[in-house]
Amino acid sequence: MDTVQKTIVWGNHLVLGLPILDKQHEHIVNAINDLNSACMESDKTANEHFKNAAGIVVAHIHHHFNTEEKLMDVLRFQDSINHKREHDDFLSELIEQSKMHKLGKRASQQTFVRFLADWFLSHIAVSDRVFADYILDMKTNDQIRQTLKANQENIRIPA
Ligand SMILES: [Fe+2]
Ligand SMILES: [Fe+2]
Repeated sequence: MDTVQKTIVWGNHLVLGLPILDKQHEHIVNAINDLNSACMESDKTANEHFKNAAGIVVAHIHHHFNTEEKLMDVLRFQDSINHKREHDDFLSELIEQSKMHKLGKRASQQTFVRFLADWFLSHIAVSDRVFADYILDMKTNDQIRQTLKANQENIRIPA
C-alpha cells in the first residue's frame, strides 16, 4: 500500500477567491509539504526536524482558524457553529494523533501527514468553499471592510 503523501500543488482548484483566506491556505499547504519532506529524511536530526515542522503546521492552522472564525462572527455567517465544530474536532484529532504516536516512527509520521493533508484539502473544497461563497455574495469588499471596521476587527481585506 502506498502510504506516502504526495506533494500538494497549490493551484486554482484550491483558490476560493478571497485573498485573506487563500493566502493563509497556501501557507498551510506549503507547511504541510515541508512536513512531508521532513518525513522522508533519514539522518539523525530527522525526528527533531519532523516535530518542528509539525509544530509550524499546527501554529499556522491555529492562526488560520482564528481568522476564519472571527470573520464568521463579524460577518454573521449562519452555519458558523458547524464549521467551528469541524475545526475543533480536527484540532482534537491532531493533538490525539501526535500523543498516540509521539511522531517518532516513520509510519506514524506518514499517517499524520496524510491525515492532515486529506482533512485540509477536503475542508477547503467543501466547508471553506461554502463560507467563501457566502462572503463573495456580500456586495463588495468595501461592505466587508466597513463591517470589520465597525466591529474593530483588525483583519485586512486586500483590495
Ligand atoms: Fe474552515
Ligand atoms: Fe480555511
